[in-house]
Amino acid sequence: MAELQEVQITEEKPLLPGQTPEAAKTHSVETPYGSVTFTVYGTPKPKRPAILTYHDVGLNYKSCFQPLFQFGDMQEIIQNFVRVHVDAPGMEEGAPVFPLGYQYPSLDQLADMIPCVLQYLNFSTIIGVGVGAGAYILSRYALNHPDTVEGLVLINIDPNAKGWMDWAAHKLTGLTSSIPEMILGHLFSQEELSGNSELIQKYRNIITHAPNLDNIELYWNSYNNRRDLNFERGGDITLKCPVMLVVGDQAPHEDAVMADSGGQPQLTQPGKLTEAFKYFLQGMGYMASSCMTRLSRSRTASLTSAASIDGNRSRSRTLSQSSESGTLSSGPPGHTMEVSC
Ligand code: BEZ
Repeated sequence: MAELQEVQITEEKPLLPGQTPEAAKTHSVETPYGSVTFTVYGTPKPKRPAILTYHDVGLNYKSCFQPLFQFGDMQEIIQNFVRVHVDAPGMEEGAPVFPLGYQYPSLDQLADMIPCVLQYLNFSTIIGVGVGAGAYILSRYALNHPDTVEGLVLINIDPNAKGWMDWAAHKLTGLTSSIPEMILGHLFSQEELSGNSELIQKYRNIITHAPNLDNIELYWNSYNNRRDLNFERGGDITLKCPVMLVVGDQAPHEDAVMADSGGQPQLTQPGKLTEAFKYFLQGMGYMASSCMTRLSRSRTASLTSAASIDGNRSRSRTLSQSSESGTLSSGPPGHTMEVSC
């Protein structure tokens, strides 16, 4: 009998004819660690934070976030917020290759560039949305500037520095794999990569032929040299804001909680992520429940289970919420919402 196989389906729901993307404006500012480029969509809304995104290694804001922010159902959310999409230095479209010997900023220094962006725009608070390295950077920023972060959406974050085992594996892989393949192995699971779907082909092509591949390697090195975020359960080093923690079901190391996860749910599951984001914002008082989809409302009503981030994870659970202590967010006033997609 033929075996049943789980098939990963990429959700597609493009903008409707009347829904045109808002105009974007790209800016660059000088910081103590070099210049940083960011693109602003929409206009500031009174008494609302900006949504600020930070992309993963091998990507830029567009290749990382466009499928999510241009997803049909996302429009009812983002029309209520101005969006600031930061490109890590040298990752912006058309970026020149850094000269040989250029000292690329560490992830901590990349986080320290964010205040310059917010100062330039005169924005006081944000809701951060980060993937992989970007999630790490936004967490570091939130630890350093807790009063300016109202919420965080962290997709596939690894808060720990590489251990010696990781380094050994990294070195071994480096003997046989090119930098683009190593980065693809960070972004996607082996199952996804060997499936070679259209999405994988597209991203393999983008990264392999990137004119700024040398810059990408520098961001990759900074990611691999990150230090522990050192979150402490109930300790001083903790995120004070509400956190929506997203782990891709395609995570290559799904047992290691928040470990070097792969799968890019913002690319493959924008619908699920949009719904969870809406629920998260509602919890923060920013979305009226009348804006929730019927599905989302019924899920909200049935949500009763509490889960801590370092507890055992049920893969079948889509949404769970905790007001209890977790590794990332300990105790009030923050709350943690865990999403696997
Ligand atoms: C936005 O509307 O925020 C957006 C549009 C295109 C790409 C990324 C973000």
